[in-house]
Amino acid sequence: HSRWPGLIAAYRDRLEGAADWEPVTLFEGGTPLVPATHLSELTGCEVYLKVEGANPTGSFKDRGMTMAMTDAKYRGQKAVLCASTGNTSASAAAYATRAGMECAVLIPQGKIAMGKLAQAVMLGAKIIQVEGNFDDCLELARKVTSDFPEVGLVNSVNPARIEGQKTASFEICDVLGKAPDVHVLPVGNAGNITAYWRGYREYYADGVTSVLPRMLGVQAAGAAPLVNGAPVKDPETIATAIRIGAPASWNGAMEAKEQSGGAFRAATDDEILAAYRLVAATEGVFVEPASAASVAGLLAARKEGWLDSGLTVVCTVTGNGLKDPDNALAGMPEVKPIAVDPVAIAHELELA
Ligand code: F0G
Repeated sequence: HSRWPGLIAAYRDRLEGAADWEPVTLFEGGTPLVPATHLSELTGCEVYLKVEGANPTGSFKDRGMTMAMTDAKYRGQKAVLCASTGNTSASAAAYATRAGMECAVLIPQGKIAMGKLAQAVMLGAKIIQVEGNFDDCLELARKVTSDFPEVGLVNSVNPARIEGQKTASFEICDVLGKAPDVHVLPVGNAGNITAYWRGYREYYADGVTSVLPRMLGVQAAGAAPLVNGAPVKDPETIATAIRIGAPASWNGAMEAKEQSGGAFRAATDDEILAAYRLVAATEGVFVEPASAASVAGLLAARKEGWLDSGLTVVCTVTGNGLKDPDNALAGMPEVKPIAVDPVAIAHELELA
C-alpha cells in the first residue's frame, strides 16, 4: 500500500483548476467508511458511517480548505477570512498556517464549541467575536472581502470549497464499488450537501456508477430553514455547528433534494442528543452533536417508512466528538473517578 497522498493528488483530474497545483495539504481525505453494525440492525438497512472527524483538523472542512487555500496561494493572496460556527475556523487556521498566510475568523458570540476555539487559538488565527449569529458573521465576511479583494473568503461560497468537498462522494463510491441508495448528512450552510450531490452526479455522468442516491438533508429543528421553506431569524440548537438560519447554498441544497428525489427533515435537540450517545455507545464512533443529526434523521426517516429495509445507506458524520467536550459531559452524572491502590484494582478486576 502506498501512502494516501491527500485529496487533490488523489482526485486531481476531477478537480476544477487543480491540474498543475502543488497542493497546500495536511493529507486530508481518505477517511474511513465504517460499517455501522448496530444502526444496520436497527434499520434493516446496510448502514455505513463516513467518518469525517478523522480528517486532520477533525472535520470535513479540510476537504474544501485544501482546495480553497491552494487556490488562494496561486491567486497571490496573503490573508484569508471566514465566518464560522467553529470547524471552518479551525480548518482555515490550519491550512493558512501551511500556506504561510494570515487568517482571521469571525465567530458568533458564545456559540462555538470549546475544542474548536482551542484549535483556532493554537493554529494562530486572529479570532474576532461578533455580536450576532453565523448569518451575521457571514454577511460581514462577504462585505469585508468584497471591500478588500486582497483578502480571500474561504467560506463555502468560495467555489473551490465545494469542489474539494465533493471528493467524499468519490471515496464512498470507490470503497463500496457503487453509489449508495440513500445518503444522509447534516445541513447548516448547505455547502456540503451541494458538494456531495455534485460528486455523485459527476461519477454517474462518467459511468463510474450506475445509480444516484437519494439525498436526505437533516437540520436541527430550531434551525431548519430548508425544512420550513424560509429563513429562520434567530436559529437555536444545541448543535452549534449547524445553528444557521439563512444557508448560503440554498439553491444547491434544493437542487440536491429535487433532482435526487430526496428530502429535508428536522431533528429536535433531544433526538440529536439521543443519536449522539447512541453512535458513541454502539458503534464506537464519537462524533459532535451536529454530526449526530444525520443519524437522528436516518432513524426517524426509516421509522416513518421514507426508506425501505435492505437499502445501502451512507451517513456522513461530519465532525469529531472531541470538538465539543461540554456537550459530551453535560448529560452525564458527575464523573467521580474511584481512587484505589493497586491491590484493590486487582481485587476489582477479579470481581469483574
Ligand atoms: N456538521 C458540522 C460538524 C459542521 O461544522 C457543519 C458546518 C455542518 C455539519 C453543516 O455543513 O454548512 O456545509 O451544510 N459548519 C460550518 C462552520 C458552518 O463554520 O464550521 P454545511
